[in-house]
Amino acid sequence: MTDYHPYMNHSQLNILQRMGIETWQLRQAPLEIPQNAWENLQLAVKACTACPLACTRTQTVFGVGSTKAQLMLVGEAPGFYEDQQGEPFVGRAGKLLDAMLNALGLTRNDVFIANILKCRPPNNRDPLPEEVSQCTPFLEKQIAFVKPKLLVAVGRISAHFLLKTKSPLNTLRQKIHQTSTDTPLIVTYHPAYLLRNPQDKRRAWADLQFIRRTLAEQA
Ligand code: URA
Repeated sequence: MTDYHPYMNHSQLNILQRMGIETWQLRQAPLEIPQNAWENLQLAVKACTACPLACTRTQTVFGVGSTKAQLMLVGEAPGFYEDQQGEPFVGRAGKLLDAMLNALGLTRNDVFIANILKCRPPNNRDPLPEEVSQCTPFLEKQIAFVKPKLLVAVGRISAHFLLKTKSPLNTLRQKIHQTSTDTPLIVTYHPAYLLRNPQDKRRAWADLQFIRRTLAEQA
């Protein structure tokens, strides 16, 4: 017996034990995420100066959507318009992403959309590994809070960082990957890539069907 029994002290428990009487132990309460954790996370992102992108950003881009979403999309990093507006995927690629979501019968308010990086890399260059390692704890906390049933890595860069691989995107599609966050993950094309390569929209459509089916199976 331990001293943590809620109703009896150690010697009372000892007496019962010597009499051969079993006592109930209260199980450790599940780790509660405090109510204000989300607001605190938003504030922490806003105030972050952990990497030099803090000096070049207009503002941070936390993410958008429902904190109760079953589906969480993870892009790469804010671009020019996202940096200006403080919301992910608002440029032309964002419009295509909205259309892809609509094909699933969803809007951006039904899902949660985040990026690996919360700040825009200058000239939209690829994120640097040091920037990713400083920023991913924010994404991990977002995933832990929202607890989506399914993650979708939007594009090669996101897939490579989330799956810690360098495999070509095409070989990562149409599979359910397990991640360190324990949330299954599917990879699909980045809408900016699809704007440049419309011939792959047919494959992206197949990915959307795969996402829809997987989500239904996870429910
Ligand atoms: N590309 C991304 O990966 N994320 C955005 O938010 C915008 C463009």
